[in-house]
Amino acid sequence: MNGEFVPWDEANVHVLSHGLHYGSGVFEGIRCYDTDSRGPAVFRHLEHLDRLRKSAELYYLDLPFPVEEIREATKELIRRNGFRSCYIRPLAFRGAGEMGLYAPSAPIDVIVAVWPWGAYLGDEGKREGIRAKVASVRRISPDSLIPHAKASGQYLNSILAKTETANAGYDEAILLDQRGMVCEGSGENIFVIRDGQIVTPGHNSSILDGITRKSVIQIARDLGYTVVERDVARAELYLAEEAFLTGTAAELVPIREIDHQELGPPGEITRVIQSKFEDALHGRAEEYLEWLDPVGEPTAATPPEPDPGEVSAEEVGEPASGTLGS
Ligand SMILES: Cc1ncc(COP(=O)(O)O)c(C=O)c1O
Repeated sequence: MNGEFVPWDEANVHVLSHGLHYGSGVFEGIRCYDTDSRGPAVFRHLEHLDRLRKSAELYYLDLPFPVEEIREATKELIRRNGFRSCYIRPLAFRGAGEMGLYAPSAPIDVIVAVWPWGAYLGDEGKREGIRAKVASVRRISPDSLIPHAKASGQYLNSILAKTETANAGYDEAILLDQRGMVCEGSGENIFVIRDGQIVTPGHNSSILDGITRKSVIQIARDLGYTVVERDVARAELYLAEEAFLTGTAAELVPIREIDHQELGPPGEITRVIQSKFEDALHGRAEEYLEWLDPVGEPTAATPPEPDPGEVSAEEVGEPASGTLGS
């Protein structure tokens, strides 16, 4: 936290932090995996930190630490916690100081937190597929915000969509863009299989430029599949032969039902790509080893902190699963 290693319970902020009031922060969701060939390793670490830097620039937040320093501090943090695999949450936000919307003199605080966090949509979801629902709220539009930035305030949109669909008994929300074309999940990009081709919404659909999306596109093409980035109409969700979501927190998750339209159990193309992607994450795919940033062996055998996704909010003083973003 701002250059120091701080115990979990002492990592607190002032109630007048600008980011708390106005959402003026940017963050990342990253994962470290225990790999077969490289030991604990962060997946596409530099790409994530580069996106953090760009998100900060887009919202006029000057990162007070170079990306390389954040990268090294993160690896040291993982070693000190004794984790072999974990979720990583860097966050840069305008802190306590000047108030009001234009507060250039308020400091930029930077934290990186790590904790063990299982599959965001559950192991069963990854195996059997999840049930998704198109949300009534649309994805933030580039007319008003910056869909390409991973900014804290923007996630009120995702929370609205996620809450609506969770309250309706579904596992995940699918958001349409401002034109009514398919955009993405509340914290994942989306792919559909149509006539054997893999189709995913492109950058003109207000998507977040997902790092898992990019990895999966490359894996699919390397496997010989055709991947097309184009507008996807809502009805194509129901007509799809297969569909899946991709994201750092969720990983690759098949969709088995959308809006009460049955797509069925995970199909073959989804399975093949999911399996190769899992190989890449765990260092079993020679051709993707360059995506791994080795952390080194743990320097402390500290027992892992509780998973905020699996214990009550009161126990750890953290939001429960589903509100941490991805
Ligand atoms: C809104 C949104 N879309 C897509 C994604 C997937 O991006 P990535 O694969 O980089 O985690 C995320 C997660 O970061 C997200 O929050």
